[in-house]
Amino acid sequence: LFSAVQPAPPDAILGLTEQFRADPNPRKVNLGVGVYQNEQGVLPLLRSVAAAERKLAAQPQAKGYLAIDGLPTYDADVKELVFGAGSPLLADGRVVTVQALGGTGALKIGADFLRQVSPDARVLISNPSWENHQALFTRAGFTVAKYRYYDAEAKGVDVAGMLADLDAAAPGTIVVLHACCHNPTGYDLTPEQWQRVIDVVVERDLTAFLDMAYQGFSAGIEEDGAVVRAFAERVPSFFVSTSFSKSFSLYGERVGGLSIVCADADEAARVLSQVKIVIRTNYSNPPTHGAALVETVLADPELRADWVTELGEMRDRIKAMRSALVAGLADAGVTRDMSYITDQVGMFSFSGLTKEQMVRLRTEFGVYGTDTGRICVAALNEGNVGYVSASIAAVLDD
Ligand code: LMR
Repeated sequence: LFSAVQPAPPDAILGLTEQFRADPNPRKVNLGVGVYQNEQGVLPLLRSVAAAERKLAAQPQAKGYLAIDGLPTYDADVKELVFGAGSPLLADGRVVTVQALGGTGALKIGADFLRQVSPDARVLISNPSWENHQALFTRAGFTVAKYRYYDAEAKGVDVAGMLADLDAAAPGTIVVLHACCHNPTGYDLTPEQWQRVIDVVVERDLTAFLDMAYQGFSAGIEEDGAVVRAFAERVPSFFVSTSFSKSFSLYGERVGGLSIVCADADEAARVLSQVKIVIRTNYSNPPTHGAALVETVLADPELRADWVTELGEMRDRIKAMRSALVAGLADAGVTRDMSYITDQVGMFSFSGLTKEQMVRLRTEFGVYGTDTGRICVAALNEGNVGYVSASIAAVLDD
């Protein structure tokens, strides 16, 4: 049965973690995967989440099945977090939100549902994009192409190229957009540039799919969610995938959500009924614990306020590490301008290093980043940034 099965290559991101774990180098640093680590180099258990754990443990519940679309109070809170509590879309019952297995699970539910309603649509992702976008939409049955995004020369977004590519897309094309903290480049559009993207989405009748895995890591929950609200004002139907892996440091709980904006409440009810079939035929219904934790934090004003503070602390520490990396590179003798690292936002820096340089970083220094040159600055700390800087300087050969 399996004699013709070919070995698949390791995953471009999670495969690096496997390699990292097997590396005996005592100085090794994992900047491959997008996971925040604190100043001690440890994955944090947030105070707010620990408090929610205690609250839940004080009133142990039987572990029954959740509804196919998840915990209702969680879905409602996700909706408010993503669209804003006062959103007229929510009042009009136009938004379907379902609990999902992290951001990836949300993308997959959305992709499977889109394959049902728009089987012939092409999918456009940014060039470059998160590696799994291409694989996930391809596996869902779509042909995936790219729109221009990263301008390597100017170190920023090729806005004109992006708009031209979107403008040339056929009506109904599914366009995957990063709502904030673009992964991997760390370059986001300005609010004005987003309005121009929305112009094209509306004029060309494109299907926007906003991937929001890093809400809160650029400027704040409200600020980073502004893109969704801008779409909500002008685009009749679109998708938003949300992840709490990073913002709640709940990576292993697989907790996220998919929201679908519909024309009206009747359409929303019909869409929900179909999305539930997608979920039921994939994994039946989602797990209880992660959503209960997030819901407990969001529903308790004190815990929620503390979570917002903690998210701010993570964001600020990442920004400090960006500056420390720029300084460390200069100290290590790098003469070229590396200040773009502090212009980028979110967890990543798109370092501009070649694949060969990234492989050298890994094999000679135990510093792991993706082959595309992406490094996770959220895993830097005062203890490793000097070593990482010196290692990068060695492979840059300035
Ligand atoms: C990443 O880009 O590193 C994260 O989103 C983790 C993942 O699943 O790839």
